Amino acid sequence: MAEFTPNNHSSLLSAYRTHTNGELRLDAVGQQVTLSGWVQRVRLLGGVTFVDLRDRYGITQLTFDEGAGTPAALSDQARALSREDCIKIMGLVKERHSKNANLPTGDVEVFVESLEVLSNSITPPFTIEDDTDGGEELRYKYRYLDIRRAPIREALMLRHEVAQATRNYLSDNGFIEVETPVLIKSTPEGARDFVVPSRQHAGSFYALPQSPQLFKQLLMVGGMDRYFQIVKCFRDEDLRADRQPEFTQIDCEMAFVEQEDVMKMFEGLIVHLFKTVKGVDLLGGDSQHGQLERLTYDEAMRRFGNDKPDMRFGMELAHIKEQTQGAGDNLFKVFDDAEVVIAIAVRGGASMTRKEIDALTEWVKRPQIGATGLVYVKYESNGEFKGSVDKFYNTSHYAKWAEATGAQLGDLMLVLAGAYAKTTKAASELRLEMGQRLGLRDPDKFKALWVMDFPMFDYDKENDTLHAMHHPFTRPTETTKFYMGDSEARCPSVFYATAAAYDLVLNGTELGGGSIRIHEQDLQQAVFKLLGFSEEQAREQFGFLLDAFQYGAPPHGGIAFGLDRLCALMMGTDSIRDVMAFPKNNQGRDTMLDAPAPLEGPQLAELGLVTSVTPEPKAE
Ligand code: AMO
Repeated sequence: MAEFTPNNHSSLLSAYRTHTNGELRLDAVGQQVTLSGWVQRVRLLGGVTFVDLRDRYGITQLTFDEGAGTPAALSDQARALSREDCIKIMGLVKERHSKNANLPTGDVEVFVESLEVLSNSITPPFTIEDDTDGGEELRYKYRYLDIRRAPIREALMLRHEVAQATRNYLSDNGFIEVETPVLIKSTPEGARDFVVPSRQHAGSFYALPQSPQLFKQLLMVGGMDRYFQIVKCFRDEDLRADRQPEFTQIDCEMAFVEQEDVMKMFEGLIVHLFKTVKGVDLLGGDSQHGQLERLTYDEAMRRFGNDKPDMRFGMELAHIKEQTQGAGDNLFKVFDDAEVVIAIAVRGGASMTRKEIDALTEWVKRPQIGATGLVYVKYESNGEFKGSVDKFYNTSHYAKWAEATGAQLGDLMLVLAGAYAKTTKAASELRLEMGQRLGLRDPDKFKALWVMDFPMFDYDKENDTLHAMHHPFTRPTETTKFYMGDSEARCPSVFYATAAAYDLVLNGTELGGGSIRIHEQDLQQAVFKLLGFSEEQAREQFGFLLDAFQYGAPPHGGIAFGLDRLCALMMGTDSIRDVMAFPKNNQGRDTMLDAPAPLEGPQLAELGLVTSVTPEPKAE
């Protein structure tokens, strides 16, 4: 079947249209056409009325000109049109006198001979233009109007293309799409579950999947070999620009594979998607040996302070504890007492004013960033160093810092000090902020990499508990040490074990994450135990998985990508809401439906959520 395009559209033909509003060009001049769509704008110029008619495919100018033969009644009808009226017209295509080079149909206009209003519109609450006057709340409440705007329409069309290209690539590689259930029991991915009360089993609840993780592993045990699903996932967690309570994953799993096989396959997917949808070659430029760059978790943390580094720019973190330690006659206690001292060099930053640097200091001290203060040193263009700690350090010290950070004449060195985790995080935030200010985070530039060799566990010192860094089904890189006896089980080598886990990171966003899985019952039990599950708890929650591993489970692994994040990156927007048809607002509410909403008493009783309901007094 020929590929669908608006210019190859026999299926679009109907009593309502012979052409779309994005289609007419000079070669159609002289043709009689029928068009349908929405009134974008009505303009009266002298005795002539112009109407911009819009649909999914574009905008066509309609002309009503009494001087050129439009009947007065038809002109009146045109003048009475309002924005967003849905209309159908018939008319003759003419060449425009004054062409509009900004519009694909801008060489022609349709001289209208009849007009039918299919459906009137009341005044819309915001303008349906690329740059609208509507705020987010209003646009979400009337999302069906928002979707008429080109940016949202284009985002949805791009999303469709991404989904389509994903299906093609995976299907061509032998993956089959399998649907997994939505009413399930908890699958831990580190967030809270959304739950659904059961009417038939009062007091019991289904959980909505945080991901289809366990089902895809069971599909591997079932011999499906290569699975994928474009699937809704639900997580009750704090919302951010790149997090929604319900979002979509491209979820994938393969059997009889090693980590390298999985990474190769899905690097191929992402490269394919960027090539087909955006025309961007992710492997182009400076990628090594025709594959994406790879960093270990440790290296990413050391060089960027972040396990999802934005590689569009350098400004790497320099650890200068050694170069600052016990230096000079007047010891600088802040640095000497600190666990780490981290510096970055900001290109051209020596020209920043005292006021600008003070504002930056306030910025790093905000609780979200968490630094206790900020030290700066200007590397002036005359070769002198001037900074906030000149009392403690001299030129020879500063020269070492400059060497470590790569600072050159005219640059500014910014230095943070303190406890390891907090300072690393703050340094990463500062690097991103300075990158943003210097315009180094260009949304049209795409830089992807793998981050791998993640720690298996995150240790919670306060509660002396281990958490799975990816999820509890992730395989440790070295398995032997997990089979020790009870007394040795929680020894440091297990605490600091690495996992066969990998994230695909693009422009500082975690686009996807996956791992090779545990497929042996005893190893899975050992990991559950380390994570603090008693044998009974592990059985109660994951008995089905442990059972399945007794029936010849194949080695397997996979990955899931965030479809919303992928589309947002491709569209160059920060918020995944911009690429969702009906997103929740930043409080997790659907303002159009007004959800979530309370339930009526009888429904609560039926679900067993309240014990009894007093009947409403009958109206007299
Ligand atoms: P993970 O939890 O890393 O892995 O999720 C995979 C990808 O899903 C996207 N994502 C989100 N997108 C929008 N809103 C959210 N709240 C949200 N949470 C996650 C991210 C993330 O990289 N089952 C494993 C995958 C596996 O091991 O195969 C999983 O879900 O882009």
